Amino acid sequence: MPASRPASLSGRPVAISGLGAYVPKRVVTNDDLAAVLDTSDEWITQRTGIRERRVADEGLSSSDLGIVAARAALTDAGLPPAEIDLVITATISPDRIMPATASRVAKECGCGGAGAYDLSAGCSGFVYALAMAAGAVAAGLHDHVLVVGAETISRMLDWEDRSTAVLFGDGAGAVVVSPCDVGGTAQASEGRFPGGILGFDLGGDASGEEYLMIPAGGSRLPASRATVEGRQHFMKMNGGEVYRFATRVVAQSAGRVLGRCGLTVDDIDVFVPHQANLRIIEKAVKKLGMDEDRVYTNLQKYGNTSCASIPLCLSEARAEGRLKDGDIALLMGFGAGLTWGACLLEWGRGRDPEHERG
Ligand code: ACO
Repeated sequence: MPASRPASLSGRPVAISGLGAYVPKRVVTNDDLAAVLDTSDEWITQRTGIRERRVADEGLSSSDLGIVAARAALTDAGLPPAEIDLVITATISPDRIMPATASRVAKECGCGGAGAYDLSAGCSGFVYALAMAAGAVAAGLHDHVLVVGAETISRMLDWEDRSTAVLFGDGAGAVVVSPCDVGGTAQASEGRFPGGILGFDLGGDASGEEYLMIPAGGSRLPASRATVEGRQHFMKMNGGEVYRFATRVVAQSAGRVLGRCGLTVDDIDVFVPHQANLRIIEKAVKKLGMDEDRVYTNLQKYGNTSCASIPLCLSEARAEGRLKDGDIALLMGFGAGLTWGACLLEWGRGRDPEHERG
């Protein structure tokens, strides 16, 4: 049984105090893709579980989606934007290489004086950013951190490559990370769990670095006529290798974070995996030995939204009553790098007693 404070985070207790999400309105179905690519609804559904995805209208970028999600998270937290000390945007489709997408998110959300940076860790980015935020708040470096997962991956896809174009979608999700009053939720006050964010397991296997990448546009292969003509600015993926990696690491990483927090698979009420592929999720869940009814998925509607997928799931799960105060949730990201990131938390509104009084 864990102690009466976060089990693998030391310092101040920390929780998610606000949550928001946004997806663009335009729906692209598998049949829409089959009309322009050599693919079919049957292939995509059987191999991935995806039925449709959202694509942002021309002119919109990741920050535009992230700003809507971030404003919703701030409202949900009941926190004036000026109280945000730091904005971290996790994304694989930043507005630009420089400056950080987080700068525009901070400006447009009214967090003008906050520090702002982007975090790049493939589809594990949201969990990595949550870990950086939780660690900083726990240590007292910051009081309130806005973590945004925002993607317009449609801009990074080769729409002539059926092996990648069918898998991804656009969207955004955001959370506010704040100090919490331990014992704020029902189970915590009964002494079952300490409440708030409990712990993380972050890791990577850089031997798989080449399996998932956008080859050109950075300093290693700067943009040139040849890179454009060679379609090197679009995402390239070795799907089989990524599949094998993901099905291997999810159960391993989940086991580590559970062990670190003194919990078991049976303690998990809601499992929110990165929404890459239903087959990956089903296989991982089987390895974990978990009932499928505790797993939340919405990739059927949105495809793989990379850094947005986990907060997008949290938002929908809460709205549907699948994620309730006191629930123990396991979040699990995996992706380019190759990287993985797991987080265990007790869902519930962590509140800074000072803020409650204010
Ligand atoms: N429609 C029809 N046929 C297709 C399509 C398509 N969209 N894409 C590939 N195929 C074909 C292939 O060409 C191949 O044909 P062949 O046998 O004639 O050569 C056949 O389907 C089988 O291809 P595989 O790649 O073996 O298919 P697989 O069953 O492995 O599924 C998939 C492919 C869905 C990509 C799977 O490997 C996968 O999900 N991998 C993990 C992907 C992932 O999670 N990526 C995101 C990571 S997160 C991040 O950081 C971005």
